[in-house]
Amino acid sequence: MNNKFQHLLALLCLLLTTPAMASQVEVLHWWTSGGELDALSELKEKVEETDNTWLDFAIEGGGGNTALTVLRSRAVSGNPPTAALIKGHNIQEWAKLGFLTSLDDIATREKWDDKLPEFIKPIMKYQGHYVAVPVNIHRINWLWLNETIFNKAKIAVPTDLNELIAVLPQLEAAGYLPIAHTSEPWADAILFESISLSVLGAEQYKQAFVDLNPQILASPAMINAFAQLRAMSLYIDKNAKNRTWEQSTKLLIDDQAAIQIMGDWVAGKLLQEKQQLNTKIRCIEFPGSEGIFSYNVDSFAFFKLKSVSSEVKEAQKTLASIILTPELQREFNAKKGSLPIINTVNSNNFNPCTQQAYTDYQQAMRDNTLVPTFAQAMATTTYVQSAIARVISNFIYDKSISNEAAVVQLTNAIKAAQ
Ligand code: BGC
Repeated sequence: MNNKFQHLLALLCLLLTTPAMASQVEVLHWWTSGGELDALSELKEKVEETDNTWLDFAIEGGGGNTALTVLRSRAVSGNPPTAALIKGHNIQEWAKLGFLTSLDDIATREKWDDKLPEFIKPIMKYQGHYVAVPVNIHRINWLWLNETIFNKAKIAVPTDLNELIAVLPQLEAAGYLPIAHTSEPWADAILFESISLSVLGAEQYKQAFVDLNPQILASPAMINAFAQLRAMSLYIDKNAKNRTWEQSTKLLIDDQAAIQIMGDWVAGKLLQEKQQLNTKIRCIEFPGSEGIFSYNVDSFAFFKLKSVSSEVKEAQKTLASIILTPELQREFNAKKGSLPIINTVNSNNFNPCTQQAYTDYQQAMRDNTLVPTFAQAMATTTYVQSAIARVISNFIYDKSISNEAAVVQLTNAIKAAQ
């Protein structure tokens, strides 16, 4: 063996035996509430077990609007984080601007195409390449209720939207806050989303908020959806302005408020508060929307970074890979209140609400009633989503706007944002 060859061989052996250099993984997100933090710490621990260090960049604010604003300013000034919680159409928007790095390498190696549900893949891919990795499925159209309050006040649990609206004054008369609402555009949008699912049904909901069909947007059914929203909005109290979604859940736990209309991250909060789910606080499908499953998928996208050292790239792949392991999926989602994104996780240990979500999710897939949430930008672009949310919030807090006028505003706002 000549010297040159020996030298090359030695170098190769060194490369193969030297462990990959660890790196720092900076992750931007808005998971700052009980349940969210517990779930996130599962991911953080698993990343740190690989010798990489986790740098947390958390920005408060349910729904993530503030976080996404901060992300934009960091990215445009050339200083993006390693990864960020980005969802739905927003992934495509970031990828189109050229900010995201391809994950095809790890996706091919770890067979993501075989692991992920069919309808999720196009959301995670841009022009056929993976640029994000999903961690869970949350359901939006839930109603959380304090059954002790209903029992004490001798009020029956509502089974349809009319009954729901009818119990609100009764709950108020019995001395309770009927709805623990959070007056922020994203939460207002969630309220209207559940109402419109109930009024329009899955098919017309998709035509309105996915296809943005002007006829459905301006239809009598949509006017009726706003009428129902008006009826419910009369029970939104002034303090809802300064109340986070987590504080709303706490009002239910403390027997002060009867109802919360919110996605199933509430289950994560309830678990963190050591509540037995479906005993005192029950989860029911938003009345009238039974059988429909409005989905919201949390996912992480990875940025092209200034320093594209191999360690940083490896760390990004490590994080992406951990997210889809059965262990992380099981432990993270058990705390987050969401469904695992891969179907190899045993559902027996889920809490009762997540178990119900799992059954309903599978049924909705069979019935074609699985719909993307518009409130969380899975159904349409973030521009259209914000335009819709603005119309909804204006309507809720300006009682002089008629149902008919709201529908005209909705149609115009969507047209302008497209
Ligand atoms: C996210 C959830 C989160 C919720 C409240 C949503 O946008 O998808 O994961 O728990 O906001 O912060």
